[in-house]
This record gives sequence, C-alpha cells and structure tokens, in this order.
Amino acid sequence: MPKLTGNKELVNIIKSKIMQEGGISFRDFMDMALYYPELGYYTSDKSKIGEKGDFFTASELDEAFGALLAKQFAEVFNKLNSKNFKIVEIGAGKGYLAYDILNNLKKHYPNVYKNCEYILIEKSQYHIQSQKQILKEFENTRWIQDIVDFEDESIEGVIFSNELFDAFPVYLIRKKNNQICEIYLGLDKEENIVEIEKPARMEILDYLKELNINILEGMTTEINLDAKDYIQKIGKKLKEGYVITIDYGYPSRELYKYYRMKGTLLCYYKHRYSENYWENVGYQDITSHVNFSALKHFGEKVGLKTIGFTDQAHFLTSLGLMDIFVELQEQGDFKSYERLNRLKTLVLPKGMGEKFKVLVQVKNIKEPQIKGLEILPPQTDRYKL
Ligand SMILES: C[S@@+](CC[C@H](N)C(=O)[O-])C[C@H]1O[C@@H](n2cnc3c(N)ncnc32)[C@H](O)[C@@H]1O
Repeated sequence: MPKLTGNKELVNIIKSKIMQEGGISFRDFMDMALYYPELGYYTSDKSKIGEKGDFFTASELDEAFGALLAKQFAEVFNKLNSKNFKIVEIGAGKGYLAYDILNNLKKHYPNVYKNCEYILIEKSQYHIQSQKQILKEFENTRWIQDIVDFEDESIEGVIFSNELFDAFPVYLIRKKNNQICEIYLGLDKEENIVEIEKPARMEILDYLKELNINILEGMTTEINLDAKDYIQKIGKKLKEGYVITIDYGYPSRELYKYYRMKGTLLCYYKHRYSENYWENVGYQDITSHVNFSALKHFGEKVGLKTIGFTDQAHFLTSLGLMDIFVELQEQGDFKSYERLNRLKTLVLPKGMGEKFKVLVQVKNIKEPQIKGLEILPPQTDRYKL
C-alpha cells in the first residue's frame, strides 16, 4: 500500500492520529483531508473551483443557472406569501451562484429582492471571505455558522444547495464473507497506509436495513451518514417551504448495482480524477455520489415530503433554459455563441444535464407543484426513489 502524501503538516497530523488510535475510520480520514482547520482541502486558501482549481460547478459556468433558480425562488415567494421569506444556501463555495441569484432577483423580481433575506451557511472560512467579497453590493445577505443556529421551525422560504452533500465525509464499507465490514486506515512499520476491516458500526447496519439496501459480496462502497443527519437538521428548521438539493447521485437501487462494485468515491486534482485517496492529501477533492433515496427517506421522518426528483436538464428546461438559448442565438455575436456553447454543457445527456439531479422536498405547502418540475425525465430506475 502507498504512503500518505500531500500537505506535510496535515499528513503528519493524520499519521499521529492513526498511531494514537491504532487506526481511524475512512470517514475521519476524509473529514480531516477536506476540513481540517486551515489545512484541509476546503478550509485552505487553495483555489478549488474553476479553471485554476480542480473542478467546475454549474454555478461557475454561466449566470443562466442562477437566473433560472431566481425565477424558481420567485415562484416559491409568491406561493408562500410570507413576511419573513428566507433563501438559505448551504455550501455556497466562492459565492458566484448567490451573486447570480441576487442580481437576477434585484433586476427581474424587485419585490422578492426587497422582501427576502439571503442567508449563507458555509464551513470554510476561505469560502466565507470570498462570498463576502463577491456579495458586498447586496444589503440583504447574512452568514451563519451552522443550520442548527436557527431556532427550531423558524425558516419560511427555500433551503437549497448545489454540490453540498457530495462533499460530505463518508464511511467506506465492504461486504466480505457475507458480513458488512467498515474500512479503517492504519499504518505499517514503514508508515505505509494499510486498510483494516472491522465489523461495521450499528448505525451503518441500521441505515442499510432501513433503506433496504443489499450490498453485493465483494462490493466496496460508501455510506453517507452525515447526509442523513444533515437533511434531518434541515427538515427540523423548516417551518414552511421548499428544500431543493442539486447534486450528482442516484436512488439506492441504482447506486448499489453490480456495475458499481468499487462504489463512487473519486478524487479531483487539477481537473483529473483518480482513486488515489492517499495522494495530495489537503490538495485534492474527495467526493462521492449522493444517495437520494436516503435524503427522501430521512427527510420524511422530519416532515419533508418529496414532490419531485428530476435531473438538471429537465429542471432547467422547465424553467425556461430554451428561451435563453433562443435569445443568445438571435443575438448572434461571438460572446453569445460562446455562452450558448457553455450553457449546452448544463443540459447534455450523459453529462451534467443527466448526471446532476434535483430533489424537491416541501413542508406545509398545500399546492406544492412548481415550474421546475413541469417536464420530467422518463421514470426509469434512475429516477425511482
Ligand atoms: C463542492 S463545493 C460546492 C460549492 C458551490 N455550491 C458551487 O456550486 O460551486 C462544496 C461546498 O460546501 C461546503 N461545505 C461542506 N460541508 C459543509 C457544511 N456542513 N456546512 C456548510 N458548508 C459546507 C464546502 O466548504 C464548499 O464550499
């Protein structure tokens, strides 16, 4: 097995924890690699998203993504008729999507803009600084540390995220001799990383049982218990409104199929992906696909009702992406064609359009149907939660 490489200070901290504890769970390793204060991938001041970083997100691609979300939020605003309307974005990264949403609300839906508060919840100080800088022209923004800082059932409005849950640390499990094991990391005498298989903790076994997930013999895969906890925290804070989750992932029945025997865990470093988790620690992203059946199931336990599960292509098309295509085509200049090309990547089948899903959950809404769910993809296994 390989040696841990990457940010030396972080590598040494992880190694001493492993030595002290005789091994750490993969989840704890991933948590430190991504979020160790100031040294983790997301908490350090390294550029992550965009050309100079390691991966692109839809928010960075074009302002149309934010424009269409603004349109969706304006519809929700009119439905709720609340004097306390909030838009809560969790894990806003650099803050570009928030900028595009607020800018579009201000321009096209001034009544919503004037009567809403935009709240950002972000774990990385580096990203908070970037968000504050980018959003300084908007007066109705506020930052809070954690969703638990809201009073119970106090949010009226929309709680949304783009690529949040895929960035949570996950447990690694393997089925061997008909038993579910959990992967821990240890060190041998030469300080090489070794995998230690331990019987899986009860919470993992309960999760598999509750969601009716059958792990195949020999399969190694991930379990995102942090996502389970987080969707429940969200549900408890929402009084009335919508939870819109955009991310890549599948329902359980698709996520644990025979052709994903190695799970979905991947690292991103300078726009290349790999399965080398032990390299570039603190410098590379580690991510896994989201189990949307779990978000639905555990959300229901705290009163969140799922009203739709679609993909990005259908969601954005329902909201009017094609009108933007036509507008750009009619403008016909080089810049518009450039935008048109970039925008196509948001809806490409087999690409972002299909890979990214949108889950819509509601609480205390009588007529919950929204524009983003008007045109739905064919309801194959990939869409049955
Ligand atoms: C993959 S990035 C996505 C950023 C952004 N939404 C975008 O689309 O470009 C994940 C973001 O979620 C943040 N994050 C991860 N866990 C979080 C948590 N528990 N609470 C708040 N933010 C979190 C990370 O710091 C990072 O900014």
